[in-house]
Amino acid sequence: MKLFDVYPLWNIEPVKGQGCHIWDKEGNEYLDLYGGHAVISIGHCHPTYNKMLKEQVDNLGFYSNAVQNGLQKRLAEELGEMCGYPDYNLFLCNSGAEANENAFKVASFNTGRKKILAIKKAFHGRTSGAVEATDNPKIQAEFNKNNNVTFVPLNDIEAARMELEKREYAALIIEGIQGVAGIFVPDSNYLNSLRKICDETGTLLILDEIQSGYGRTGKFFAHQYSGVKADIITVAKGIGNGFPLSGVIISPKIEASYGMLGTTFGGNHLACTAAIAVLKVMKEENLIENAAIVGQYLMDQLKGHKAIKELRGKGLMIGIELNEGFTTLRNRLLFEKHIFTGGAGANVIRLLPPLCITKEIADQFITAFTELENQ
Ligand SMILES: Cc1ncc(COP(=O)(O)O)c(C=O)c1O
Repeated sequence: MKLFDVYPLWNIEPVKGQGCHIWDKEGNEYLDLYGGHAVISIGHCHPTYNKMLKEQVDNLGFYSNAVQNGLQKRLAEELGEMCGYPDYNLFLCNSGAEANENAFKVASFNTGRKKILAIKKAFHGRTSGAVEATDNPKIQAEFNKNNNVTFVPLNDIEAARMELEKREYAALIIEGIQGVAGIFVPDSNYLNSLRKICDETGTLLILDEIQSGYGRTGKFFAHQYSGVKADIITVAKGIGNGFPLSGVIISPKIEASYGMLGTTFGGNHLACTAAIAVLKVMKEENLIENAAIVGQYLMDQLKGHKAIKELRGKGLMIGIELNEGFTTLRNRLLFEKHIFTGGAGANVIRLLPPLCITKEIADQFITAFTELENQ
């Protein structure tokens, strides 16, 4: 059997990782400012994380959601405290798309409404509802086009108001910071106005913090810069530092009932252990604070470079929009300087490094970037 060929692949095969570095099978070292697509939060192969996972797999790797699982309760409590939503409830599943899928279901069950309002250029995943709420017709099959989702432009409050006042929408979903689109930050006033209009129209506010959450921006969730509270928050990526896990964080005003949601693998013993280890390391090593400090440092160092048209983002979620003539920089960083970064379209580099990145590592990137733009 061969692999179903859906990914354009770089001809590099990482086999080892440590902190912000990875090594390929030929032994070449790479700096990882991509984190395997914002997934590596506490750094590759953190000793605490590895130890906790090894111990757990020796005890119990998996049992189903038909029995008590103290690890899930511990994770919910610790996450609630750390993320600033201690009175909310947690449903655990396996991927970002699945978390959004479940968020839509919860909103629809709760409001009795069918439609979702989403934001232009949004990315929410590739499963049926999540991809319908993703503003990219190229990745939607006919099966996904059910006319349940309307898109309005980011930061255009009147466009959102016009739709929400129809009172047809179960929820509005918005990314804490748009990631795949190329790093676009919602205005604080916009988010606050959305909150108000959602309340007035009986619409639930879903914050997709799958890429922008888990400390990446210097706060636990990006939307916390604006002071708004969401009704539902979805998390994935950094939650397990690479162990597949996601979560739906749900307001106490939304009632649960048996059978409303469910999953075989979600919240299994290994996944919860990974997530508990992530929170422990984030706390012990002040990684959220580090994300704010090193992120700001990177922004300051990047300002004024001739290759850069615009810099966007917060903390360690940085979009570097390149000027014409510099769009090969991302590939050159990878192949000439051995630095992994993310991309968005042809001309945006996305920096999504592990949150343990240091200023020294940031300097290595700035030096490489400067050399390349001057060649
Ligand atoms: C904001 C956002 N939501 C949802 C997803 C989907 O997550 P997953 O690929 O785990 O399904 C992504 C993935 O990039 C994302 O960036």
